[in-house]
Amino acid sequence: MRTSTDDGTERMLQLVMGLPDQIDSGAKAACVARIGRAGGFESVAVAGMGGSGIGAKIVQGLLLDKSRVPVYTCNDYDIPAAVSAKTLFVAVSYSGNTEETLSAYAQARRRGCRIIAITSGGKLGQSAAKAGYPVLAVPAGMPPRAALGHLFSTLPVCLERLNVCESYQRGLEETVRFMRNRRRPWLAKARTIAEHLDGRLPIVYSTSRMLDAVADRWRCQLNENAGVLCHTNLLPEHNHNEIVGMGRPGHPGRNVVVVALLDRETHPRTRFRLESVLDITKQAYHLAMRLESEGRSRLARIFSLIMLGDLVSIEVARRQGKDAMEIKRIDELKRRMAQKRG
Ligand code: F6R
Repeated sequence: MRTSTDDGTERMLQLVMGLPDQIDSGAKAACVARIGRAGGFESVAVAGMGGSGIGAKIVQGLLLDKSRVPVYTCNDYDIPAAVSAKTLFVAVSYSGNTEETLSAYAQARRRGCRIIAITSGGKLGQSAAKAGYPVLAVPAGMPPRAALGHLFSTLPVCLERLNVCESYQRGLEETVRFMRNRRRPWLAKARTIAEHLDGRLPIVYSTSRMLDAVADRWRCQLNENAGVLCHTNLLPEHNHNEIVGMGRPGHPGRNVVVVALLDRETHPRTRFRLESVLDITKQAYHLAMRLESEGRSRLARIFSLIMLGDLVSIEVARRQGKDAMEIKRIDELKRRMAQKRG
């Protein structure tokens, strides 16, 4: 018999399968949105939490060696000291009511930043519209983490139009096409990966800076959709500390599944490091999976692993009997925070 848990998980699956369509419509909307004049920025700062914050991290990784100015991500109440009147500040909050993002946005206003808001409404939408800042509206009614396509795709288009970076138009088009073609095979692959992860602790390793956000996304989706703990780290940094701690203390040792995210830009020495680590620490995990990105452009490769991870989280949820839509603990915490003012 179908339950409401099955229905929630099925709805989340449909939203994730729609990720390429979201990217397409978000990018098209951003191409024609009124966002003001280009140029003149000394930095970019993007504020957002959770599902609304991940887009900024993807952009940061994407632009690491491409942006003409530094790109900061803000996931806290306060913004970096370097954010100034010469900063383009983008506030991203799906609900428009996330207090950390609202606090960062208020500080950016006081510093006289050029501001753009990406939201479905809420306090952020209202305040930004009243102040005359461009508001890029995303469709309401989804869990924020399931609206990544809308929230993310507006960012590279705006940054390109404001002359912060080169054009991502071709990359976006390829990404959408590629994801639409590959989503079915990825779902089948996700089911196999989920079988291995079921009841175990996933440890997800990024092996290149552009994949750091992807590892974060895997963790967040496994946390929120599947309701499981997940650990992430980055190579080669891991090799200088975590390698010693792997498998100690004994629990959860053999219950660990390592998921290594790899890309053709992963440094060949980092590949050798990964293989050496997996050999040296083989007592510390049950299984190690190596997942290579697919596609041509960086963007397509990033999203090939993001969509796979999203699908894995839904398949793990299904196996655990968890409704992938349900995030009661986040809701409860937000309720408590709203009651305690000041
Ligand atoms: C819920 C989710 C959360 C929210 C976060 C911030 O689906 O993904 O991580 O994104 O609590 O809320 P918003 O996105 O409304 O600013």
